Amino acid sequence: MKPWPLSLVLLCSLLSPSIAGDTITPNTPLSDGKTLVSAGGNFELGFFSPGNLKNRYLGIWYKNISTQTVVWVANREAPLTDNTGSLNISSDGNLILSNQAAKVFWSTSSSLSSSPVAQLLDTGNFVLKEGNNDSCSLLWQSFDHPCDTLLPGMKLGLNFTTGLDLYLTTWKSTDDPSPGDYSFKLDPHGSPEFFIWKQSTKEYRSGPWDGIQFDGEPEMNSDNYFTFEFFINPHAIYYTYKVVDSSIISRFMLNQSMIQRYVWFNSMVGWSLYWSIPKDQCDYYAECGPYGICNSNDSPICNCLYGFSPKSPQDWNLRDGHDGCVRKTSLDCQGDGFVRLTHVKLPDTSNSTVNESMSLEQCRESCLNNCSCVAYAPANISGGGACIIWKSDLIDIKQFVDGGQDLYVRLAASELSTGSTGDDPNKKKQEIVIFVICIASGLLLLVSSGCYIWHKKFKSHSIKFSGRRQLSFDLSLNALGPTQDVYPQDERNGGKELELPLFELSTIVIATDNFSIANKLGEGGFGTVYKGELEDGQGIAVKRSSRYSLQGVDEFKNEVMLIAKLQHINLVRLLGCCMQGEDRMLIYEYMHNRSLDTIIFADKTKCALLTWQKRFNIILGIARGLLYLHQDSRLRIIHRDLKASNILLDKDMNPKISDFGIARIFGGDQIDAYTKRVVGTYGYMSPEYAMDGVFSVKSDVFSFGVLVLEIISGKKNRGIYATEPNLSLLSHAWKLWKEGNSLELLDKSMGCSYSINDVLRCIQVGLLCVQDRAEDRPHMSTVILMLGSASTMLPSPNQPGYCSERSAIDAASSCTVNEITMTMLAGR
Ligand SMILES: *[C@@H]1O[C@H](CO)[C@@H](O)[C@H](O)[C@H]1NC(C)=O
Ligand SMILES: *[C@@H]1O[C@H](CO)[C@@H](O)[C@H](O)[C@H]1NC(C)=O
Ligand SMILES: *[C@@H]1O[C@H](CO)[C@@H](O)[C@H](O)[C@H]1NC(C)=O
Ligand SMILES: *[C@@H]1O[C@H](CO)[C@@H](O)[C@H](O)[C@H]1NC(C)=O
Ligand SMILES: *[C@@H]1O[C@H](CO)[C@@H](O)[C@H](O)[C@H]1NC(C)=O
Ligand SMILES: *[C@@H]1O[C@H](CO)[C@@H](O)[C@H](O)[C@H]1NC(C)=O
Ligand SMILES: *[C@@H]1O[C@H](CO)[C@@H](O)[C@H](O)[C@H]1NC(C)=O
Ligand SMILES: *[C@@H]1O[C@H](CO)[C@@H](O)[C@H](O)[C@H]1NC(C)=O
Ligand SMILES: *[C@@H]1O[C@H](CO)[C@@H](O)[C@H](O)[C@H]1NC(C)=O
Repeated sequence: MKPWPLSLVLLCSLLSPSIAGDTITPNTPLSDGKTLVSAGGNFELGFFSPGNLKNRYLGIWYKNISTQTVVWVANREAPLTDNTGSLNISSDGNLILSNQAAKVFWSTSSSLSSSPVAQLLDTGNFVLKEGNNDSCSLLWQSFDHPCDTLLPGMKLGLNFTTGLDLYLTTWKSTDDPSPGDYSFKLDPHGSPEFFIWKQSTKEYRSGPWDGIQFDGEPEMNSDNYFTFEFFINPHAIYYTYKVVDSSIISRFMLNQSMIQRYVWFNSMVGWSLYWSIPKDQCDYYAECGPYGICNSNDSPICNCLYGFSPKSPQDWNLRDGHDGCVRKTSLDCQGDGFVRLTHVKLPDTSNSTVNESMSLEQCRESCLNNCSCVAYAPANISGGGACIIWKSDLIDIKQFVDGGQDLYVRLAASELSTGSTGDDPNKKKQEIVIFVICIASGLLLLVSSGCYIWHKKFKSHSIKFSGRRQLSFDLSLNALGPTQDVYPQDERNGGKELELPLFELSTIVIATDNFSIANKLGEGGFGTVYKGELEDGQGIAVKRSSRYSLQGVDEFKNEVMLIAKLQHINLVRLLGCCMQGEDRMLIYEYMHNRSLDTIIFADKTKCALLTWQKRFNIILGIARGLLYLHQDSRLRIIHRDLKASNILLDKDMNPKISDFGIARIFGGDQIDAYTKRVVGTYGYMSPEYAMDGVFSVKSDVFSFGVLVLEIISGKKNRGIYATEPNLSLLSHAWKLWKEGNSLELLDKSMGCSYSINDVLRCIQVGLLCVQDRAEDRPHMSTVILMLGSASTMLPSPNQPGYCSERSAIDAASSCTVNEITMTMLAGR
C-alpha cells in the first residue's frame, strides 16, 4: 500500500484500527498479488487460481483458514489468463476488473457516485458505497450476487422492489467457478418454496414455510447453533440465517445436487459436514409420483395415498413409484369428503393458491365448492388463518414420524365410507376378508388366479373354524409379490401347504386394547406396530398397515409366506395374521427389548447393560440367522434390508432378524441379480447394490459388517454431526485399523470386561464384511467360523466400500453417504 492514501484508508475504516487495507478507492486499485483483508481479519479478497489451472479469478476467501475456501467469485465466467489483472474504481464510480491490455473481465453497474469506496467487511460482504462514511448509501454489494455459498447474514430469495433474484449456483467443477448445472432457488408461486434445480428439472423441494420452518425439514427448528428467518411480505421473500455463537465459522453451500452446511473445527479436522439435504430417497422430487407418498422408513418407500391405487402396478411391484397413483373412485363433486393425512411434507405448491385470511373451515368449504379442488391444508401452523388449496395433481408428499403438517385430500364419498379408518375396527368385523383384498388391491392381475384359489380355500376353512381360524397357504401360488424379476421355480415346495393361524380382528382389538396409543411400539415396516396380550397371556406384537397405504398386499404376502416357511431361533416368529378390509396385520411373538437400534443408538443407559459378551452373542446370533437365510433353509434368501432396527431382541437379548418385506428368494445356483430400483437403507447398502443395483448374498454380508461395527462402537453408520468429524463409521473404523488403534472404536459405555483379542477379531471380521469388492467379502459360513474360533487366522481386510477410487469425487479416504446418493442421482 502506498503511503499517500493511508490517511484516506484510516478515515474509511474508523471502526478498524488495523492498517491492513480493507478498502479500494479510485486512487488505490488492487492489483494481482495484493489482497484486501477485512478489519477483523475474517476474510480476504484478491486474485486466486482454483485447482491446478493458471486462470486468475477475483474472489473472497477465509483469511484465517488453512485450506483456501472461496466463498465468492467476481468474474466467474471470464477468467484472466495472466497475472496482470487489476481491480479499479472507474471514473463513473463502478468497480472494474481489467488486465494490462485494458480488457474488461467484470464490472459492477451502479449509478454514478462522486466519491466511491469499496470495502471488504468482516461478514464477507464486499461493498461499494458512496463516500468514506459508514452511514453513506450502498451502491453495490457482493451479497446481492451469491455464487455457491451463503454466509451468515446473506439472503436468498426475491426482492420485488428491485427485481433482484438471489439464488445459489454450483461451480462447474472444483477448478471452474463458472455456473454449473445445479441451482438453489426460491419459487414464489403458491406458498413460496426453495428448490434444488438441475437445469430446469426439480431435484429437491424444501416444502412451504409453515410459520416456523420449511415443512420438508422438520429438524431445522430444533437446531442449537443456527437461527433461521424467512420473511414474506409484499415487497420481498427471503431466507437468511445467523450463527448463535459468533466464534463458530460456518458456511451453507450448494454442492452439486446437495445443500450442505459446514462448520470449521480447527486446522487438524478442517471443515466438518454439519447437515445436508437431500437426506434420503424420499427427498428426491416426486420420487413416488402424483398422489404417491414417500416414507423412508418403509420398504418399499412408496405408498399410494389412501383412496388411490398404483397407476402402473407392474412398475410399482418393481419398486418404481415414479408413475404415481390414480383414484380408485373418481370424484363426483357432490358430497365428496376429505381424508386427513398427518405429519406430511405438503405437496408441491407451485400451482396452488394461498389465501392469507381463511379459517380452516372456510378453506374446506372453498375446496368443496370447486370441483377441481383436490386438497387443502392450513398454511401456517403457528395459528393465523391461512389456507392452501390445490387444484392440480398432488406431487412430492413425504411422510414424517414427527414434524410435517396436516393435509386434507379430497375423496369420493364412497371411498370414505368403505374405508377402514381404524377408528372402530369392530364395525367391519364381518367383512369377507380375502375377497376384499383381491378386489380392492387392483394390483393382483399377476396373481389373480392364485388369489382365486386362496379365496376358495379360505372360504372352506372359514366355515369350519371360528375364533382362531386356520388359513392355508399354497406354496405353488407364486404369490411372493414383488419378486417377479428373480422368482425361481421352486419345485421342491410345489403344492405343499403351510398352516398359519388367522386371527379374528376382534381378538386383536382386545389384545391391543383397541390399538391404543399406550400400546404403540413404533412405526416401521409397512405400518404401525402395537404391543398386545392374548387371552392366554402370550405377548404379541401386531404390525398393522397404514390406513392410507395400499401397498401392503404384495409386501404382506411376501412376508407371510416367507416367514411362515422359515423357522430359526434367530428369526422372528410369526404367530399368525389378520386381514380385514384393507387392514392387514401380522402377529409376531413379542420382543421385550424391542429393536437393536433403540438400545445401541438411542438409550445409553440400556446400552451400558450390553456387556461385551452380550454384544458378541448378538453378533453371533445375527450371523447364524443370516446363514440360515442364505444357506441352511431350503431356499436361498437375500434379506436386502438388514439393519439395526430390523434386529429384535427378546428378554434375554437374543437377536431375531425381522422384516422380510423386501427379501428375495434365489434359485439354487443363482449367484446374483440385478434390480432396476434400489431399495434398502442408506448406510447399510453395499456399494455394488447402491450404485449398480446388483445384489447377492454378499450385499447382506456387507450390511452385516456394518451392523457388527455399529454394535461394537455404539455409533450409527450415517451420523453427520459436528461432534463427529469422521463422516462415516466405516472410514473411521478403517482409519483406526490402519493406525493399529482399533480398540478406540469400542463403545465407551461397554465397561472393561472384554477380551481384547475377541474385540479385535470382531472388528476385523466386520471390516472383512464391508470390503468394497463383493468377491473379497466372506460368506456367512466363513464369518461364523472366524467369529467362533480364536485360532483361525484371519485375512487382512481391504479398503471398505465407499472409501476407494469408486467414489471418484474425493480421493482421500473419507466415506460419505452423500456419494451414494450422488451416484444414484446421476444414474437417474
Ligand atoms: C487465526 O487462527 C489462529 C489459530 O487457529 C487463532 O489463534 C487466531 O486467533 C485466529 N485469528 C483470527 C483473527 O481469527
Ligand atoms: C487500474 O489501475 C492500475 C494500477 O494503478 C493501472 O495500471 C490501470 O491502468 C488501471 N486500469 C483502469 C481501467 O483504470
Ligand atoms: C458521515 O455522513 C453523515 C451524513 O452525510 C455526516 O453527518 C457525518 O459527519 C459523516 N461522518 C464522517 C466521519 O464523515
Ligand atoms: C429490496 O430492495 C430495496 C432497494 O434496494 C431495499 O431498500 C429493501 O431493503 C430490499 N428488501 C429487502 C427485504 O431486502
Ligand atoms: C462437496 O461434497 C463432497 C461430498 O460430500 C465433498 O467431498 C466436497 O468436499 C464438497 N465440496 C466442497 C467445495 O465443499
Ligand atoms: C403446474 O401446472 C403446469 C401447467 O399445467 C404443469 O405443467 C406442472 O406440472 C404443474 N406443476 C405441479 C407441481 O403440479
Ligand atoms: C380469502 O378468503 C376470504 C374469506 O373467504 C375472502 O373474503 C377473500 O376474498 C379471499 N381472498 C382471495 C385473495 O381470494
Ligand atoms: C374452480 O377453479 C378453477 C381453477 O382455479 C377456476 O377456473 C374455476 O372458475 C373455479 N370454479 C368455480 C365454480 O369457482
Ligand atoms: C403465522 O401466524 C403467526 C401468528 O398469527 C404470524 O405471526 C406469522 O407471521 C404467520 N406466518 C406466516 C408465514 O404467515
